[in-house]
Amino acid sequence: MKHQDIIKSLTLEEKAAMCDGFDYWHTKGIERNNIPQIMWTDGPHGIRKRPEKKDKNQAASLLGVPSICFPTAATTACSWDPELLEEMGEYLGEECLQEDVGVLLGPGINMKRSPLGGRNFEYFSEDPYLAGKLAAALIRGVQSKGVGTSLKHFAVNNQETRRMTIDAVVDERTMREIYLSAFETAVKEGKPKTVMCMYNRLNGVYGAENKWLLTDVLKKEWGFEGAVVTDWGAENNRVEGLKAGEDLEMPTSNGVGTKKIVDAVKRGVISEDILDDSVDRILDVIITSANALKGNHHNYDKIKHHLKAREIAEKSFVLMKNNDNILPLKREQSIAVIGRFAKNPRYQGAGSSIINPIKIDNAVDSFQQRGVPFTYCDGYTMNPKSRKGIVEHIDEAVYAASQADVAVIFAGLPDSYESEGFDRRNLRLPPEQVALIEAVSSANKNTAVVLSGGGAVETPWAKNVKAILNTFLGGEAIGSATVNVLYGDVNPSGKLAETYPVSLYDTPCHNYWPGSTFTTQYRESIYIGYRYYDTAKKNVAFPFGFGLSYTDFEYSDLNVTPVKAKPDKNVTVRFKITNTGSVAGAEVAQVYVKDKKSTVFRPEKELKGFKKVYLEPGETKEVEIELDSRAFAFYDVNIHSWHVESGDFEIMAGASSRDIKLEKTIYMASSTDAPCPDYSETCPDYYGANITNIPDEEFENLLGRKLPKERRKLHTLSMSNTLEDALEGVNGKKIGSIIEKFADKNSFAYAIAMQTPIKNFVSMSMGALSERAASYLLRVLNDEKPLTTGLANVIVNAIPNLINAIPKLTKSI
Ligand code: BGC
Repeated sequence: MKHQDIIKSLTLEEKAAMCDGFDYWHTKGIERNNIPQIMWTDGPHGIRKRPEKKDKNQAASLLGVPSICFPTAATTACSWDPELLEEMGEYLGEECLQEDVGVLLGPGINMKRSPLGGRNFEYFSEDPYLAGKLAAALIRGVQSKGVGTSLKHFAVNNQETRRMTIDAVVDERTMREIYLSAFETAVKEGKPKTVMCMYNRLNGVYGAENKWLLTDVLKKEWGFEGAVVTDWGAENNRVEGLKAGEDLEMPTSNGVGTKKIVDAVKRGVISEDILDDSVDRILDVIITSANALKGNHHNYDKIKHHLKAREIAEKSFVLMKNNDNILPLKREQSIAVIGRFAKNPRYQGAGSSIINPIKIDNAVDSFQQRGVPFTYCDGYTMNPKSRKGIVEHIDEAVYAASQADVAVIFAGLPDSYESEGFDRRNLRLPPEQVALIEAVSSANKNTAVVLSGGGAVETPWAKNVKAILNTFLGGEAIGSATVNVLYGDVNPSGKLAETYPVSLYDTPCHNYWPGSTFTTQYRESIYIGYRYYDTAKKNVAFPFGFGLSYTDFEYSDLNVTPVKAKPDKNVTVRFKITNTGSVAGAEVAQVYVKDKKSTVFRPEKELKGFKKVYLEPGETKEVEIELDSRAFAFYDVNIHSWHVESGDFEIMAGASSRDIKLEKTIYMASSTDAPCPDYSETCPDYYGANITNIPDEEFENLLGRKLPKERRKLHTLSMSNTLEDALEGVNGKKIGSIIEKFADKNSFAYAIAMQTPIKNFVSMSMGALSERAASYLLRVLNDEKPLTTGLANVIVNAIPNLINAIPKLTKSI
């Protein structure tokens, strides 16, 4: 224990109180020990610090004080550049110091199980190796300034639909190889001060009270020394949580949790040692941050930070197509700039990560500043009340395109399509944008599309355009960064961190997503992203790891040593890359490993190393990548450990998962005497990834147990139910339609209001809904009591608190 002396000086009540937040954003301090309250705030790609004073007239808003909005994780992941992420972390850390923020809530690292995930923009990748390395780098950067991070949402929060209640049913091997693996790397290599547990359940147990996750794996096996904090309002049962390894409840339970802990210790339900361990961990987070914040006179250079946000965006954008090298644009070419996003860029996602940016660069201004000949038109409208129709917009754009040398369309996903709180319904761009791209590209064969959005989209229109530059959600400097890349001041070097499938129906979990009211079953197992597409040999639109450059690269001289290897020693992979073009550029070289013949089912290939190499024209560099035994192992559920099966392994170096340039076979000896599990009889469909329609029995064989019973109908609602669960009742229906009046059905606020369990309504509404009122509400939802106007008002007024928004929603019905 690090802080035994302090702990000894505290009473039982004080210790229990330390495990509960002070308010929405602070942990408690202890004055007599000189331990201050510290502020925890979102994250992950900027500081969302709530203003001290609430302005009653301000629109309902999640916005915090102005700060730099860096590109979101879906963007930065495409840089494949841990050093850049570490630098971004340092910048974020400096901003935390200035704003007195002790812990930044991020990075988010959940796997992109489906491109429909509403919060995918906040996560890195479909690949755990890439996500783990980048998250570790970001954590190191932030924490180098002394402030903490919170790696989230541990560990299988892969969808927004019913994220507070859904039970993720996942087999042990898939957990280890896919859903835990990135967390493992980030914890071991990044050493985050805190880990935030998920809201939802894993195999029946809530994230906040999952002992296997929090204690057995995270703390004991991986040696995590920090504190586990609940996602905001993810508390289920305080005492069970503490026993399982949940250290800190956030936001405050207003003393409810404290009292429960004190009682449990007094009754001997939980030993005081467990409490002491949690307090020690929390104190360590607080004391470390407090030391960094002491005598705080930081004042970061806003311009410098804005420019760093631009550089990160430029190094992350992905050039997905560039026929006839129409990009980079030439100064003298006349350009038709088309699309509202060129003026009002989509640069970040919605929900708790929303940043109030210092300034937003838009592309139109940047074209102007460059002094190049261009015209601009909207192309489409974001305003449903606009008087100008779709056809008029398109006609105008077609005319502009026909008069220009090149047409550049700024298209992408509007805000309402993706957000924390709900998932996307399809992978399409808005139909009016698709129609625009089609019309403009027939009017001008030199059409380029600049795409924005936080996740993969279907691209049936790609064949009609010559170039696609994907700028994702590129942060506040997205506009100037885009124009810099379009004109070749910066050579694009990003590579996709997720596959762009041809169609939603091709995605591996399509038939299982988002599950029932109660469960979401991960029947596709380890086949996520390219692991599935490459094994099942499915066509994809743009593969994982893919990205073009304004120059060309050649791979040569692959050398892998030793060729007969043993798992206790690293294998070294070396090869050369040459820039064969005429401009400087960077290539992300990737190393994949394939077990050529395996007893267990395995993916066609898995990413096990990568390196971003900057090269001048004509320059050659040697890349060296070390592979340890994990690069060859699968997770063996019989021995509950990693297992290398002896045999031949192919080592592949390439430019994407579908563009392998060099390969070599080596022999690797086994890591254990244990026999290899054989699934060929019990789970035959998993061999070759025939996984889109796995029958119950086969999935049960993989799970090693029966599937949980799906309750068909909800009879009596309990405190764990949500307003959405109550929609079938008379009063539930009424409340549902009242909420619709105050929060758009397609909004974060609506999703939270409808999908927060009643018990969490109490803890998260900061007193707006008391426990007594909640008990009454439950009876109302069960249609045992009438719905009163007073109660309806209380619920409506509690919503802003649930999302910690400024309460413009506060109204009477
Ligand atoms: C989100 C977290 C976030 C927290 C605090 C939760 O609803 O899931 O990612 O850090 O709120 O805003």
